[in-house]
This record gives sequence, structure tokens and C-alpha cells, in this order.
Amino acid sequence: MPVLMEGLSRLEYRGYDSAGIALLRGKKLDVFKRCGRVAQLQTILPKRSAAVCGIGHTRWATHGEPSDENAHPHLDNAGEIALVHNGIIENAAEIKTFLEQLGHVFQSETDSEVLTVLIAHELREAGDHDLTGAVRRSLLRVAGTYGIAVLGKDFPDEMVVARNGSPVIIGIGDRETFVASDATALVPYTRQVIYLEDGEVARLTPSTHEVQDLQAVVADKPASTIDIEDMLVDLGGHEHFTRKEIFEQPEALLRVLRGRVDQRFNTAHFGGLNLDARQMMGFHRIKLLGCGSALISATIGASMIERLARLPADAESAAEFRYRNPIIDQTTLYIAVSQSGETHDTLAAVQEIQRKGGHVLGVVNVVGSSIARQCGAGIYLHAGPEIAVVSTKTFTNTLAALALFALYIGRMRDVAPAEGGRIIEALQALPAQVQQLIDRADEFEVVGRQYAEYDRAYFVGRCEGYGLAQEGALKLKEISYIHADAYPASELKHGPLALIDARTPTFVIIPDDDLQSKNLSTISEIRARKGPVIAIGQAATLGTEVDTYVQVPRSHPLLDPILLLIPLQFIAYHAAIARGCDVDKPRNLAKSVTVE
Ligand code: AGP
Repeated sequence: MPVLMEGLSRLEYRGYDSAGIALLRGKKLDVFKRCGRVAQLQTILPKRSAAVCGIGHTRWATHGEPSDENAHPHLDNAGEIALVHNGIIENAAEIKTFLEQLGHVFQSETDSEVLTVLIAHELREAGDHDLTGAVRRSLLRVAGTYGIAVLGKDFPDEMVVARNGSPVIIGIGDRETFVASDATALVPYTRQVIYLEDGEVARLTPSTHEVQDLQAVVADKPASTIDIEDMLVDLGGHEHFTRKEIFEQPEALLRVLRGRVDQRFNTAHFGGLNLDARQMMGFHRIKLLGCGSALISATIGASMIERLARLPADAESAAEFRYRNPIIDQTTLYIAVSQSGETHDTLAAVQEIQRKGGHVLGVVNVVGSSIARQCGAGIYLHAGPEIAVVSTKTFTNTLAALALFALYIGRMRDVAPAEGGRIIEALQALPAQVQQLIDRADEFEVVGRQYAEYDRAYFVGRCEGYGLAQEGALKLKEISYIHADAYPASELKHGPLALIDARTPTFVIIPDDDLQSKNLSTISEIRARKGPVIAIGQAATLGTEVDTYVQVPRSHPLLDPILLLIPLQFIAYHAAIARGCDVDKPRNLAKSVTVE
């Protein structure tokens, strides 16, 4: 029981709405589950338990509201099978009807309970002696995604796990076997892990593990070693992980740059692309894919690549992409961006590209994650573990990684060595410039607190500035729950201006570039409607009045977005604190969205 609770605590950062555990004790499955936090689950647990085998889960609602009934683990009617499930069973309704006709009754609204009852049904049909077989047969009837762990009351010291689309990692200890959906939970117990692949099932006992496919063909899976240093995390004296991770950005930037700058040829190089220069030159287009903040960073990255390398590049939501039957072109290089490396929609887009013969690289933070392994090549972000649900340092490192990539492609094409040298100088100065901004945290706190009392906000910018506006708005709404919308600055007059008034502040991203005068006109339009303006810019003075002006240092134009971003992160953080929000674990959100 303590092992399960420690594991659940370690995974709390991923966001959830209920938690539960099942313990196999003698021939009995005891289930304890509660809507709310892991600490609330702790209050209903027995003081101690003799059980040496169990499963635990934190749920992020997909089918049915957060409630005690809908929390995992689920039991079948007879209490024979307990199951925890990440993912979505798409044909749950159909299977449920079939099982109801056989007399099974359901306690919850979840698709996961349907799978539990189906496994119990299959087990009984086959004479109750092979849990792994019952799981395999059930999964052959299921459409959808799953990472599951199953216990049977008549199967002491045995657990069956399976994966399709949601991560399952087996940890091999000393006469102990562990399972988790994230290596972070395994770190106190073992470094030896086996990553299950889609379509694999494993039968585990304390001292054995046997991996097979759904047809029972046994696979020989070697264990790999996880880097424990990468997994150790604490608040390091900060009040929240969000703040800690904002403060860690200079170090994180140093890591993403380390070993990747080639001063001899004024370019970048990467160890893991697995593409030579000739192959790289064969690509005529670059398409980046991601979700949420990863998509926003991909959009800014696409602009960087197109501007610098003069190679057509764009970014698209991975989820939209996979469902629109995309044309996969051999001369397009696809890049999947994901900090967790587990986002289901992004992983599915990668698989769709590969199925159609396309070439895809991953830009990923978590080493050994599903997207990193599926791509097999790409760029690791080396940002270190990001625990807060919102991306901060991984967003910055993605921009830096994509800037390096733009430099690498650019230097193969049109970018002159001298310009490459200027970009390298700017990259090397970046960590210290970000540190200068972090040293001004108090100033940004004042701004965040000041605007915390508003109920809505706009964020506008042009080109890469629009990408930053999107990220600023997403950060603010995710953690402070202030409604925030982002628009290209030129779009304001096409509709959103209707909502501008004294209670609607607008954050304007205004770099000192060719479009500054256009952004100044946007500011005038907002102020003419009495809208408060907070400008994040670079010029010493803007030459127009704004309510708040935050000046950031200049870099190379390719890298300016990174510096313009930092105040936006602080503002969202302090607005959230002022509003009393749970900054690290915002309501309704999960760190790794392993479901559709
Ligand atoms: C960002 O603050 C969010 N937590 C969210 O939008 C996130 O970027 C998105 O879910 C994608 O996650 P990934 O980078 O792990 O793929």
C-alpha cells in the first residue's frame, strides 16, 4: 500500500480528479477510491495492509463526471477482477449493451468498468484459470486506447498489463515487479525498465515478466536503464513548480544548446537526427505538429525556419492533421513537438505519417517517451523534468531547439557564415539575458497582480508576436482561469474590438521591428476605446502612452520571442496566485494528455 501511495503522489503533477487503489489480499480484492486529491484517498485507507500486490490510479475524467463511483480501480459485479485504465474504449457502449443483456450490472458511467466486466466475462467463459488469456481475448474485442493493469482475486501474486496508445512501463526490481504509466513513479525502486509497445500484453509476478502480443506470441524484450538523476524533483525552495520551472530557464537553455553549436562552420549540429546533409537537402517543405503549447511553439518554430532557411514551413494541430486524411509527401520533413512525448493526438499523427511512408522527427523533452521511441530520431529538449501542468521551460527550450534547427537548415541553404555567427552569439547570450529578466521577477509580479482582478483579457501580436500572444493567453487562462483570447493584432478591427472597454485589458507584443508602427496603431485603436494596454516590447520608449510597459532586452530577431515570452509567464503565474488558484495543478487539466 505505501508503494502505491508513493507512486500516486509522484504522479500527482500530471493532473487528475480522483484517485484509488485495489489491494489483493488472500482471495479478496479490496478497493478504496475517492473523488479529489491523493491526500483525500489517504484518509479512507486502513492503517496497514498485509497485501503485497496492488494497483493504483489517478483519473482524469473522460466518460462520466469526477465521482467516487467513476474513480478507478473498477471491480466487476462478482468482485473477481480489478482494473485501472488510461485511455478511451471507443466501442464501450456496444460492449456494455452486450454485457447488460447477459445480466451484468454497471456501477459507474465509465468505459473502463465495461472493460473490467468484459475481462471477468471472458475469464468465466474460459473456465477461470488464465487471466492473461482473458485479458487478451477482451482486448481483441475492444477498439480504442488503453494502458491497463488487471488483478484477479484467484490469481495471487499476478498482474496483467497491456498497452495500446497509453504508456505502460514495467520496472524490474529484486524479486519485485512494478508497473507505471510514467517512469517517475518507478524511480525509488528500480532503474531497470521495459517499455511495452502498442498491442503488447505482459503477465507479471514478483520475479518474472512475460511479454506477448494479442495472439499470445511471446516477445523477447530487453530492459533499458532509466536515468534517475533526470527524474529526481523537488521544489528547491520555491513555492510552486511553475515558479521553479520559470526560474530554471537559463540552465535549461544552456542544456539545450550544449554540444549543438558548431563555431567552425557557424551552424548547429545534432546527434540524433539520423539524416545526412544530402537527405536533409531533399526536403522541400517542413510541417510541424503538436498540441496546445507544443503547437504554439511549433508555429513560432515554423516561422523561424521559413524566415531563416527560406524553406516553406508551417505548423498544424496534430489532432486535426491525423483526421483530415493528410497527403504525406516524401519531400516534406515532418516534426512532432511534445514535451511529454506521450500526447495521444501527437503520437497518433506520427503513426499516421509513418504508415503513409513519411519521415518524421520528434522534438521531445522526456527521454524514452512514446513519441521519442516511435520517431526513433529527433532532438531532445533537455529541459529537465517539468512537473507543473503548464509548460514553461519546455516551451522556451522548444523555441531554442527549433531556432538551432532553423540555423542548421539555414546554413545548408542561404544563410551566410557571418549571419550564422551572429545567431550563435545571440544563442550564447540568451541564458544570461533570460536570467536578467528573471531577476526582474518582482516587477512582473506587480503587473500580474494588477491585472488579476479583470475577468477577461486579449493578447495580440503580429507574426511570431502572435504566437507569443497565443502562449500568453493560454498560460493566463490555464492557471488563473481569466478568460483570455489571442488574435493577430491586425484582426482586432475585424470583430474582437467590439469587446474592448475599460474592463478588458490587452497585452500587446511589440518587438522593435518593421511592424512596430503597425502595432502602435493597434495600441491607439484599443486606447481610443478606453481599453487598458500592457505592452511587452524592446524599444526604450514606445512614443505612445500605454498603461504598463515592460521592456525586454534585444537578441537576434530569430530569438527575440524567447525574451518577450518571459514576462508573460510571470504575469500569468502572479495573476493566478493573486486569484488563489492551484497553480501547479489547474482544474480539469492533465500534464500528459494520453487520451483523445
Ligand atoms: C501547456 O501549458 C499545456 N499544459 C498543454 O497545452 C500542453 O502543451 C499540451 O497538452 C501538449 O503537451 P505535450 O507537449 O506534452 O505534447
